[in-house]
Amino acid sequence: MDIYSYVIKTSERFDESDLYFGHGTENSLDEAAYLVCGSLNISYDCDLQSLNYFLSSEDIELIEERIQRRIKEKIPAAYLVGKAMFAGFEFIVDERALIPRSPIAELILNGFSTLMTREPQRVLDLCAGNGCIGISIAKIYSESLVDLLDCDENCLKLAQANIAKHNLLDQVNVINSNLFEKVTEKYDLIVSNPPYVSSKEYESLPIEYFHEPKGGLVCRESGLSIPAKILQEAKDYLSEKGLLVLELGHSKSSLEKRFPLVPFLWVEFSHGGHGVLAITREQLTEYCNELN
Ligand SMILES: C[S@@+](CC[C@H](N)C(=O)[O-])C[C@H]1O[C@@H](n2cnc3c(N)ncnc32)[C@H](O)[C@@H]1O
Repeated sequence: MDIYSYVIKTSERFDESDLYFGHGTENSLDEAAYLVCGSLNISYDCDLQSLNYFLSSEDIELIEERIQRRIKEKIPAAYLVGKAMFAGFEFIVDERALIPRSPIAELILNGFSTLMTREPQRVLDLCAGNGCIGISIAKIYSESLVDLLDCDENCLKLAQANIAKHNLLDQVNVINSNLFEKVTEKYDLIVSNPPYVSSKEYESLPIEYFHEPKGGLVCRESGLSIPAKILQEAKDYLSEKGLLVLELGHSKSSLEKRFPLVPFLWVEFSHGGHGVLAITREQLTEYCNELN
């Protein structure tokens, strides 16, 4: 069978199987293309109809096993193929860390829009997971030095594999720390996609999410304990003109209720996504009482 027909057939099977899409794709067709192309090391972006690729029996055997696992165990395609694209770069992905999907990718690709006037020299990816955010920043700002911080040793091992994959051993470093506890530097840019899902919301998530490490998603105080701590402490780790970019997703409204006197700037995205705020060190200092 040709690859285009096979992808269509796979997407139809996904449609019949009560699956959730949201770990790098948004619908059954994209998920099918991801699983089939990713398994065959073919770019997802290419025009499959004009590719003229016919699957061998070995190809079908490999992919069929993955399709079965996608349908029966509800494992997201990214974990089955072991890789994911983020900000145009490929990353190694496995169940040690969350699957990359932050809308912060768009900000990285547009040079943080109007939020930053100078290229950052020191960057911290706080709660780094597999390192996709910090590594993409390092690739784009080749003069910057980037630290990837996480409290999970397994995530950091995966992040290290991604640093090596992108030949960034001289530019990117890992820090094992509970938030800022072991941080000694000051940064021009701190970017963070921390856990921000409440325990209640977590229980109602589709099964696909339960393949991801719970510590990457859930956090206390209705999802706000870690984001609030970051907002309270980041000013001590930012350079004078430094900027914090923090993702909160659906917890945006809870944050606004908790800190009603802080005028957060919420980033607008052209390619989907919401709940990402940007705040300068100056503002974090000005509003430090309102943030406590
Ligand atoms: C939502 S995941 C983000 C992963 C990655 N930044 C991304 O966008 O794909 C959050 C990460 O925060 C880490 N984490 C949770 N609590 C932490 C803490 N107290 N200190 C440092 N990292 C923490 C988890 O291990 C997880 O890797």
